[in-house]
Amino acid sequence: MCGIIGVVGSDETLATLLQGLQRLEYRGYDSAGIALVRAGHTWRARTAAGTESVAALRVECEAAPQNCRSGIGHTRWATHGAPEAENAHPHLDCSGHVAIIHNGIIENHAELREELRARGHLFTSVTDTEVVAHLVEELRARGLELLDAVRQALLRVRGAFAIAVMDASEPDVIVAARRISPLVVGTAPGVCYLASDVPAILDRATAFYAVNDDEIVRLGPEGFRAVDLEGAPVRLRQLQIDWDLETAEKGGYDDFMSKEIAEQPDAVRATLLDRRRRDGTIAFDELRISDQELREVRRVVLVACGTSLHAAQVAKYAIERWARLSVDVDIASEYRYRDPVVEIGTLVIGVSQSGETIDTIQATREAQRRGARVVAISNIVDSSLAREADAVIYTRAGLEVSVASTKAFVAQVAALELLALRLAQLRETLTPEEIESLLEGLHDVSGHIATVLSRRGDVDAVAAQLLDAHDYFFIGRHVGFPTALEGALKLKEITYLHAEGYAAGELKHGPLALIEPGVIVVAVTTDVNMHEKILSNVAEVKARGATVIAVATDDDDQIDAVADFVVRVPATDPMFTPMIDIVPLQLLAYSLARGLGRNVDRPRNLAKTVTVE
Ligand code: G6P
Repeated sequence: MCGIIGVVGSDETLATLLQGLQRLEYRGYDSAGIALVRAGHTWRARTAAGTESVAALRVECEAAPQNCRSGIGHTRWATHGAPEAENAHPHLDCSGHVAIIHNGIIENHAELREELRARGHLFTSVTDTEVVAHLVEELRARGLELLDAVRQALLRVRGAFAIAVMDASEPDVIVAARRISPLVVGTAPGVCYLASDVPAILDRATAFYAVNDDEIVRLGPEGFRAVDLEGAPVRLRQLQIDWDLETAEKGGYDDFMSKEIAEQPDAVRATLLDRRRRDGTIAFDELRISDQELREVRRVVLVACGTSLHAAQVAKYAIERWARLSVDVDIASEYRYRDPVVEIGTLVIGVSQSGETIDTIQATREAQRRGARVVAISNIVDSSLAREADAVIYTRAGLEVSVASTKAFVAQVAALELLALRLAQLRETLTPEEIESLLEGLHDVSGHIATVLSRRGDVDAVAAQLLDAHDYFFIGRHVGFPTALEGALKLKEITYLHAEGYAAGELKHGPLALIEPGVIVVAVTTDVNMHEKILSNVAEVKARGATVIAVATDDDDQIDAVADFVVRVPATDPMFTPMIDIVPLQLLAYSLARGLGRNVDRPRNLAKTVTVE
């Protein structure tokens, strides 16, 4: 996955591109590049300096020609070809006039490359993208205007793309197109923009439009027009964007991750806002699916990746307990390829912060093809997943920039538990009084998270003593298990230390062999129903020399006797504990990562939004 940006008709082309690239770095930062067009000439700069690529590009661009009114920029997450400058985008055709940037994968690039080579084209990179530059070059040579040339080139390619193409001989035009990878268009008087997402152009454009799959847009200073792959005109839908730029900035924190951890009480509160009618029924305004259809649901399948998968695993416990429906949770990248059985009455819930994770989108598409109704849980309004699903519930966590997801997780759990309660209400598997009391408990979560945040010093003190540790096991039972998985994921993502999440009861079937002095076991012990059992598991690892950190409730008076370190959290209904217990685990990972000198917002090898399979 990569980030793309383009502008045409601007007096501030270079500044717009560099600023946009900075905001798009969460999509990948192996390398970066820019192409500017002026008076029949294409100027290009590319750098491959890892997390410093955009900063290095800024320096390179000091030599850029002045007064260029159009240009494109790219920040790369390498798929085909090593993260080196020659593979960085933009790529050029043989003449050096056509410049192209691309997010996605051209699946048939090898055969196209062979064909183009045979016709004399010279390739300067090993990327899949470069073939499109040469295809456009050939079509331009036949006299096609840029829009048609790109359109016809795209008829030849298979795969996923958000693409933008310029040609020095048509300097006031950029042609952009999309299939699967995200793309938005923005306008302001006399200027047109394109980008992988809205924040990249948020303070430049005044109106924003969604580009759908297989639509091609010609952007110029006078505005844009769009066509489909056959060349028939299409209208782009205008997006309602209510973010201010501050949401995308760090707001006084050292990094986005600590800002986003601190925003968790708000993320939960906002997600629960206005979801209850006067008569007590739970309602989701944006859920385009009728009560009757929800009543007819016989089985639920959740598909997701990464942190969202752990939120989905929490939801399994809630939906099963409250709505008495059978629930499966699938890793999205596995679901599609294992010939899943979709029976009548199957509801598939795709959980994705970005709504652009290709594995999750492909899984929900597969489910739809097999007849399932699909509900999306997404944090991004009008994301691809949200648009394609039959229904959507938005988490309202606000823009999440840090690669390691935090506030999106608690918001996802809140939204999914609310949906579980809605299903219980419709199926009458809980009494109105039970629902009322659970809803109250859910609304209290935000305050409990704030309490945990106010105790962050306790976690920092524990972390300070563990900077030499290398091996971590996170254990929990019931919903403490997905919490443990998520805690371990946070630690690996940003500290690069070995961490595994385990169901505490499963330790004795293998991992116990790895426990010895020096190993850290982080135990989630807050579930009142599982308390004795988890304390036994803690005793088992303690007896084998592990150092134990326990996340325990304020009223737990047994834990001090068995754990080396105790981090306290307020007690709640077990089902709500993942939203609270995850907070000290996020803080632990954060504090260790900072202590080890890691870049917490941009961990190595990872990206915020993964739009490749
Ligand atoms: C990437 C991110 C993770 C995220 C996962 C799923 O791996 O680094 O933080 O949990 O994608 O993303 P999604 O947007 O689908 O929730």
